[in-house]
Amino acid sequence: MTLQTEQPIDTSPIGVADDSPDDLDPLWRAVEPEMRTRGNDIHIPMSFAFAERLCDAYPEADSLVVRVAILLHDTGWARVDETKIISEGFGKNWRQSQIRFEHEIKGCEIAREVLPGLGYDDAFITRVTDIIDGHDTRPESHSIEDSLVRDADRLWRFTPAGIALASSWFFQTPSFYCRRLRSEILPELITAAGLEMATVELDRAEALLKVAVL
Ligand SMILES: [Fe+2]
Ligand SMILES: [Fe+2]
Repeated sequence: MTLQTEQPIDTSPIGVADDSPDDLDPLWRAVEPEMRTRGNDIHIPMSFAFAERLCDAYPEADSLVVRVAILLHDTGWARVDETKIISEGFGKNWRQSQIRFEHEIKGCEIAREVLPGLGYDDAFITRVTDIIDGHDTRPESHSIEDSLVRDADRLWRFTPAGIALASSWFFQTPSFYCRRLRSEILPELITAAGLEMATVELDRAEALLKVAVL
């Protein structure tokens, strides 16, 4: 069942909100090397911006847990065998490939390395790693924070930048990939806000990229 909200939903083209805080800049800096793998330095800032919008739509969620978890969730890609990212990570059964489990485990390791020095306590770090662990491979969400991270992780793909990067990973044309987004990824969204943002983004991207003719 889709998680409903009474709050307004921002479906304007994704960008940084005027009032977006910079409190996590030290954490961004701490994982800068891990952003250089697998398009993380495009995917993660974009998904982070979507996560902040989702937190506005679901104020009952702990926004700091959501923001830190989405920031760190894919850093583990930087510590796995790069050659397997394409061969296994995007091949058949990509969701359950060994490399997927490994990037989740390494992401939790990175969280435990960088967060204590930035003043986060053990209980907070565990809430973050509980979300990172299984974010791709576990079918169900365990909390509202987990759900917002899952939707933010998917939402960036509906933008032209997401379509460009992800379609190239899967060796697919943008229009083929857009059809997959509509048939496979839209139904995976957990929140009503995420579903609305994704639908508007995809309509906008399909028109812009002329997928009807290309
Ligand atoms: Fe991931
Ligand atoms: Fe991701």
